[in-house]
Amino acid sequence: MMANRRGSILLVDDEEKILKTLGRALRDAGHDVMETTSPRQAQRLLAERTFDLFVVDNVMPELGGLDLIREFVGATPEGERPQILMMTAHATVESAIEAMKLGALDYLQKPFEIDELLVVVRRALEHQQLRTEYRYLVSERDEQFGHYGIIGRSRAMEEVIRRAEMVAETKSTVLITGETGTGKELVARAIHDRSAQREMPLIKVNCAAIPETLLESDLFGHVRGAFTGATTTKKGKFALADGGTIFLDEIGAISLTVQSKLLRVLQEREFEPLGAERTEQVDLRVIAATNRDLRQMVAEGKFQEDLFYRLNVIPIAIPPLRERRDDIPALIDHFAAKHAQRTGRRFDRIDDGVLASLQQYDWPGNVRELENTIERAVVLSAGPTIAARAVSVLGAAAPQTTGLPSLKLRQNTEWVERETIRRALESAGGVKKDAAELMGISQRALSYYLSKYRLES
Ligand SMILES: Nc1ncnc2c1ncn2[C@@H]1O[C@H](COP(=O)(O)OP(=O)(O)OP(=O)(O)O)[C@@H](O)[C@H]1O
Ligand SMILES: [Mg+2]
Repeated sequence: MMANRRGSILLVDDEEKILKTLGRALRDAGHDVMETTSPRQAQRLLAERTFDLFVVDNVMPELGGLDLIREFVGATPEGERPQILMMTAHATVESAIEAMKLGALDYLQKPFEIDELLVVVRRALEHQQLRTEYRYLVSERDEQFGHYGIIGRSRAMEEVIRRAEMVAETKSTVLITGETGTGKELVARAIHDRSAQREMPLIKVNCAAIPETLLESDLFGHVRGAFTGATTTKKGKFALADGGTIFLDEIGAISLTVQSKLLRVLQEREFEPLGAERTEQVDLRVIAATNRDLRQMVAEGKFQEDLFYRLNVIPIAIPPLRERRDDIPALIDHFAAKHAQRTGRRFDRIDDGVLASLQQYDWPGNVRELENTIERAVVLSAGPTIAARAVSVLGAAAPQTTGLPSLKLRQNTEWVERETIRRALESAGGVKKDAAELMGISQRALSYYLSKYRLES
């Protein structure tokens, strides 16, 4: 992602005439400029928008440039700040130095030539662009290597990550358990990506999605004529994964028949494609995952005990999100940044009350539900702050005891709600059922909103 080359600039000077002159010169040079004589207004703009450069006068009656910078810098993480330039008269050069200690890039001593301003501004914008590019590279690197995109520093997740790293170096069979949306697939991929076989394929089989009659041929392949409809010879997933990893997702869903065949592959590392006379050998790692309690299934005679032990060589149990609430803030930051970047929005913070309620909510859909909630909130939030309504309207955490929402928030509530519904309908192509699903609310709730906002066509 490249910063806008023209650069967006916020210009603040209490002297209207100077402000206008400088603003015009910068605009003529091709920059996007917003200007204001009011430091308070500047504060608001800085909070609401992203600028590449902030040029501020030092001595202003309402609030001095240095104080403005100090306050802004204190409230905004370095990576999210624009470059800062201070304009100052000779007598107050001291405070320009002070501003630079706070992080301002440079200062201009009044009176200065317009050309001088343009040069300094261009340099500041180049700096900003480099910083943006650098941050992007770093975040990409972290995404790749920082625990392979697995966020979570709770004790439980540290243990999951530690095990995954350990097992990645072996070829042992792994059984990953956890509720839906806890990150089983993410961990499976991390293990493969970390293993010596990472250049080889990782083949996923969703055992629950394939009808039982087809699963066998999907796993082991078949020869032409093996069954009605087998018009060609087809390689199975085990053969495709040879040398790499096979990821048997939703392993709890396979029938007892297929279980027996699977057991044999795990024991002998060989199998026969359906209808074939030859036996094929494979050398691969098996990672299985399930949200069911396989022990319980064994006790009920629904899962073969031998197979269970063959799979459960290295167990990795991922706890549900409600049992590791410490991870929630980091996950929110991660998803908010991810979706803000994807949608080109600015995201600063989440209302404290919202964070508290997100942390209290039980997340039956675990991390997946949290990600969906944050994605929608980022898309729906009018400003850089994720406000209560953008979250609660979507059926996730309803903030309850967290004090009165701000006035602005209340005014926005109906708008956000209406927009939420409208956009959901739009992206669902007008299909109400899909729109309701998109928002995670019932169709009945959707009907209510439709009539409330007269969105019925
Ligand atoms: N710790 C985490 N850090 C970052 N992203 C995560 C984490 N856990 C889960 N996710 C994300 O949440 C989503 C759901 O994760 P995943 O598909 O791995 O869950 P799952 O356990 O396989 O769920 P299911 O049982 O429903 O298949 C994915 O987009 C994944 O990237
Ligand atoms: Mg999964």
